[in-house]
Amino acid sequence: MKKIVLAYSGGLDTSCAVKWLKDQNYDVICFAADLGQGEDFDLIKERAVAAGASKIHIKDLQDEFLDDFVLPALKANAIYEGKYLLATALGRPLIAKYLVEIAHKEKAQAVAHGCTGKGNDQVRFEVTAGILDPKLEIIAPVREWEFKSRDEEIEYALANNIPIDVTKKKPYSIDRNIWGISIEAGVLEDLEKEPPEDAYLITRAQSNISSFGKYIEVYFEKGVPKKLDGKAYKLKTLINHLNEIGATYGVGRTDLVENRLVGIKSREIYEAPAATILYTAHKELESLVLDRELAHFKEIVSLKYAELVYYGLWYSNLKQALDRFVESTQKHVSGSIRLKLSKGNCIAVGRKSKHSLYKKELSTYGKEDKFDQKLAKGFIKLWAMPYQK
Ligand code: ARG
Repeated sequence: MKKIVLAYSGGLDTSCAVKWLKDQNYDVICFAADLGQGEDFDLIKERAVAAGASKIHIKDLQDEFLDDFVLPALKANAIYEGKYLLATALGRPLIAKYLVEIAHKEKAQAVAHGCTGKGNDQVRFEVTAGILDPKLEIIAPVREWEFKSRDEEIEYALANNIPIDVTKKKPYSIDRNIWGISIEAGVLEDLEKEPPEDAYLITRAQSNISSFGKYIEVYFEKGVPKKLDGKAYKLKTLINHLNEIGATYGVGRTDLVENRLVGIKSREIYEAPAATILYTAHKELESLVLDRELAHFKEIVSLKYAELVYYGLWYSNLKQALDRFVESTQKHVSGSIRLKLSKGNCIAVGRKSKHSLYKKELSTYGKEDKFDQKLAKGFIKLWAMPYQK
């Protein structure tokens, strides 16, 4: 019997995929990755077995996710289409990496995932698996099976004793990890309508947020967040804290109509409190310590970096080369940023760094001024010279 390793979430699609693959004569081995989605992995294991998996591998990948995927994206200030902090997109290449690794360990000939043919995630899984081992066959049951609706799929699950959550009616499609939550479908497909409060999982609604803001201080070392309010934490703990604090103040919500790689425009809303706080703080610190040319060039790199992540090209040569550039920009990105969280806003209000390039004696309008204004006249003449007839 041919072996296949399936990226398994415990949801309806991947549970039906187990049964579907078994019917195609595969020995199905499941792999569930813990990226901080807060699921009950004992339950996931039970479900995989009940659906027909011969085995399940469960791995806590949170630290690796943060160190090797989230941090590089944070250092790069990578944001897709001005709003999306890429939580889902960053998780996929890591899951694909382990799919391939487990396939090798299990001597499986194929890997599978539960993504539809309309999204970006199928691309991310398959491009990554293809880069890491081009010989592995890749199967996407959801793209191939012939259920015409979700109801039909639920019927199939019930008929085959596949355990599903029929009690929890889920009007949205949700992907969650420690870096953020992506929410789509249902009423969100009506672009004219404001997302209903029940679409958000963790961030507090404006009406429930105290009118007093909260100040926090984040300390970075070489682009890596190390302390919150003067106290050192390991990255995972720091991000969990920031998610909690940020969510209390409604920070990190976005509503985006985005361009998918497969050519479709789709509306997705996101919740990413910790990511929003850390991006805001990191960018602010860079404003202080990077010189103008480096800072401006880095903005171009940020755009390209975000595209590469979104497009599933994490393991591409360009992404790796950009990582080296970004890393080289971070050697002076150390210092503290004070932020004010209030009613959905996160604003930097104070900054401090031993590598600060800010010179008060040059910028001041006070009496300590050391800037020689007379020099400006000649500078402007030379600057304008090429454009004058
Ligand atoms: N649009 C986001 C991306 O392509 C998230 C995709 C998954 N979203 C979801 N609700 N399941 O990265």
